[in-house]
Amino acid sequence: MSRPYETIKTKKEQTTTWITLDRPNKLNAINATMLQELSEALDTTEKDTNVRCIIITGEGEKAFSAGADITELHKLTHETAAEFSRKGQQIFSQVETLSKPVVAAINGYALGGGLELALACDFRLASDHAELGFPEMKLGIIPGWGGTQRLAWSVGVAEAKRLIMLGDRVKAEEALKMGLVDKVVPQKELEAEVEALAQRLCEYPPTALKYAKRALISVTKSFLESGLKKETDFFALLFSKKETKEKIESFLSQGNKKEGDC
Ligand code: COA
Repeated sequence: MSRPYETIKTKKEQTTTWITLDRPNKLNAINATMLQELSEALDTTEKDTNVRCIIITGEGEKAFSAGADITELHKLTHETAAEFSRKGQQIFSQVETLSKPVVAAINGYALGGGLELALACDFRLASDHAELGFPEMKLGIIPGWGGTQRLAWSVGVAEAKRLIMLGDRVKAEEALKMGLVDKVVPQKELEAEVEALAQRLCEYPPTALKYAKRALISVTKSFLESGLKKETDFFALLFSKKETKEKIESFLSQGNKKEGDC
């Protein structure tokens, strides 16, 4: 296990690299350092010709990731929120457009930015205790790292409205029925199942996989580009509202259990 990072871990196993979000005490909440380190780790794996598949997961048994770090959201203004949104979008687009397949091993909560990261992956396998959702509305905001767009493309606009506008959190089996994840397995089997999927992918010619990804990305590319811009504008606008600040402050000061529960 190599450890050149503060907030993630990477592990190379033959032709597969595991990238693990590693802030388990904060349910692997994604802060600016983690975003940056994720981007660097993706660059490294992209350049490594021995790596044929990437798996992204979260440390511990509780969370893939509980989303953007709310203490960082608290500091955002209308101006800085736009950059915050663009940065996350750019790194999750890097996940999406990597020339190699990327699998999300969803080992617990995948909320907000955590689900946005999973949605940027090519495949999503979830443990049976995983829960997925977008709690942003409870903070007076909307997903800002591509979630409004990729969720709608993934499960349709009606389900996207339910998750984003009502803040419904779905358990793994329901996520499977919606098409939000590809497979649900018992927690103790998740690692083996993900490795088996990675192994299947590694057996195919990398160039064919690369072009398959590229062709499939072109289905959504032009819509995604304009949708992401709108998402950033609306996300940033909400940070000029007093009630957004109040909701985020209330989450941080009163503890997040009630506010976060969907
Ligand atoms: N950002 C920053 N810290 C977070 C976090 C986030 N998104 N999600 C969880 N944490 C932290 C908690 O503050 C807590 O830290 P502490 O022990 O220092 O107080 C720790 O992670 C454990 O979380 P806790 O709330 O005690 O766990 P729980 O099992 O009671 O609840 C959740 C789990 C996921 C329901 C709850 O943590 C939650 O609602 N998180 C926020 C989810 C969210 O709104 N994400 C979208 C952000 S845009």
